[in-house]
Amino acid sequence: MQYDYLIVGSGLFGCVFAHEAKKRGKSCLIVEKRDHIGGNLYCENVEGINVHKYGAHIFHTSDKEIWDYVNSFVEFNRYTNSPLANYKGELYNLPFNMNTFYQLWKVKTPKEAKEKIKSQIDQLNIENPANLEEQALSLIGTDIYEKLIKGYTEKQWGRPATNLPAFIIKRLPVRFTFDNNYFNDKYQGIPIGGYNKLIEGLVKDIDVELDVDFFEKKEQWEARAQHVIFTGKIDQYYDYQFGRLEYRSLDFEHTTIDQENYQGNAVVNYTEREVPYTRIIEHKHFEFGTQSKTVITKEYPADWDSTKEPYYPINNDANNEIYKKYKALADKEDKIIFGGRLAEYKYYDMHQIVGSALKKVKDHFKEIS
Ligand code: FDA
Repeated sequence: MQYDYLIVGSGLFGCVFAHEAKKRGKSCLIVEKRDHIGGNLYCENVEGINVHKYGAHIFHTSDKEIWDYVNSFVEFNRYTNSPLANYKGELYNLPFNMNTFYQLWKVKTPKEAKEKIKSQIDQLNIENPANLEEQALSLIGTDIYEKLIKGYTEKQWGRPATNLPAFIIKRLPVRFTFDNNYFNDKYQGIPIGGYNKLIEGLVKDIDVELDVDFFEKKEQWEARAQHVIFTGKIDQYYDYQFGRLEYRSLDFEHTTIDQENYQGNAVVNYTEREVPYTRIIEHKHFEFGTQSKTVITKEYPADWDSTKEPYYPINNDANNEIYKKYKALADKEDKIIFGGRLAEYKYYDMHQIVGSALKKVKDHFKEIS
């Protein structure tokens, strides 16, 4: 069968685009190389718990239109992200706020906390930070850097902080209130029943073919539709002709435990260098689960190669230059639209993906009308 749109990839971008095209009376076919839809939002049901298979996902936005849009497919709960940090067995609240400062220094007022941070920064006397370590120290002082930033960041990037560029950390938000809510956004939550409900709502009555790698029969797939929406890797689309774009990857170790409540919180970061994982996620807490068992996931940062999932683009100058060349080719295409985190080589949160897909659909339909 011929379609108006072939959508390569069933992540959030592809599914929003497909839904909107169908709403405008167009026929769509989604092809997906994994054995399930949903991209990195996908949840696996284990012991009645929605396990975020590709990393913890918390939806947050201040845009009411986007919040209403996702809630029109599935109602979201009122989960509020309040992660903890575990440093050598001591627990600290995140993001850095009055609770953290009390736990670090027993200070009780914003004035005392500000003075403590300022005195540590002043003592260091760093004028032109030469690397990430100096940058962080000059913004936040020694204690917070050493206990809560250094080890975590070094694990994330796989390199000492003194070998990382200063620009990675532009600012370090601190809050002088007793407020553990990680996000500043107006709306946040988790779909009741899990992210699969959101994805299933978006692709209702749309044809999907799973276990299909578009590149195995690229020409044949492209011939099946008038337009192609491509959400895979842009360098792969152009046969790596300008070189390969680089990523950081992650390994996830999921474990089911015969215990009702393992750590009492969905997200606990491990901020010391010696613990090899960066965080432990206990999935049931995203949905206030009361199951008798629990599932936890240890998250290990990893170097990326072509056998691993490309999770985080490394937007350094070299990669950005390569991406620019691919983008110049993409901009000349008239049949193909590139969208989403892999095709645009950009870290996007979910609300940004929804916003970007809705905008691209709108622009596209304006152009063809
Ligand atoms: P996504 O990668 O989801 O979809 C692309 C799809 O295309 C995949 O299913 C892939 O298999 C498929 N595909 C690729 N090549 C193909 C080919 N050749 N043929 C067929 N199919 C192909 N955001 C947020 O708002 N809050 C959060 O808490 C988090 N947490 C988070 C944790 C971690 C560890 C990561 C890596 C990311 C987040 N995010 C997040 C970001 C969120 O995951 C992101 O915004 C969306 O998944 C992006 O959706 P896309 O559709 O762009 O990509």
